[in-house]
Amino acid sequence: MRRTAGFILWLTGLSGAGKSTLSRALREQLEPVRPVELLDGDEVRTWLSRGLGFSREDREENVRRISHVALLLARHGVGVIVAAISPYRGSRDEARQRAAAAGVPFVEVYLQAPLDVLIARDVKGLYRKALAGELADFTGVSAPYEAPEHPEVIVRSDVEPVEAGLERVLDTLRARGLAGT
Ligand code: ADX
Repeated sequence: MRRTAGFILWLTGLSGAGKSTLSRALREQLEPVRPVELLDGDEVRTWLSRGLGFSREDREENVRRISHVALLLARHGVGVIVAAISPYRGSRDEARQRAAAAGVPFVEVYLQAPLDVLIARDVKGLYRKALAGELADFTGVSAPYEAPEHPEVIVRSDVEPVEAGLERVLDTLRARGLAGT
């Protein structure tokens, strides 16, 4: 039986950095050419991680669950797109190592945008609340974000149009034979 190769495409970055937007654009492009599934932090927290908060421990648990489900799907040929802040390097590296052990390609994409730009934009109004002290443990304000040291792709979402980042990620997948032709 011929199978499509699965993969895990892991999008990490601060809240508002464009993970959801890019992940949806990627899904749209990939869906016609291969099986694809999107695990988005906001949705995961409604279904898979309901009840978890934003302490270090809870985020690590959230990311462990996401990486486990991603691996289950990817092992069966699904191209899995993860969009989660996933602020701790150790958690992301563990996801990468588990993928490697299972022979599943893992591509890390860092959505990089300066904090002051995200604060100025504040699409969800959460930075304002965090800065006012109304929201504890908010990534970038009162909780850490550990940027990736060697991501496969860096997307500068504050200065690049979505299409530019999209094409770079697709090129990376194509180069590995994971995005059709
Ligand atoms: S993660 O750190 O565990 O990977 P995840 O991506 O699932 O985070 O969820 C982040 C989303 O939860 C944000 O986009 C934001 O809408 C919401 N959120 C609510 N409280 C916080 C907080 N304290 N820190 C970060 N995001 C928060």
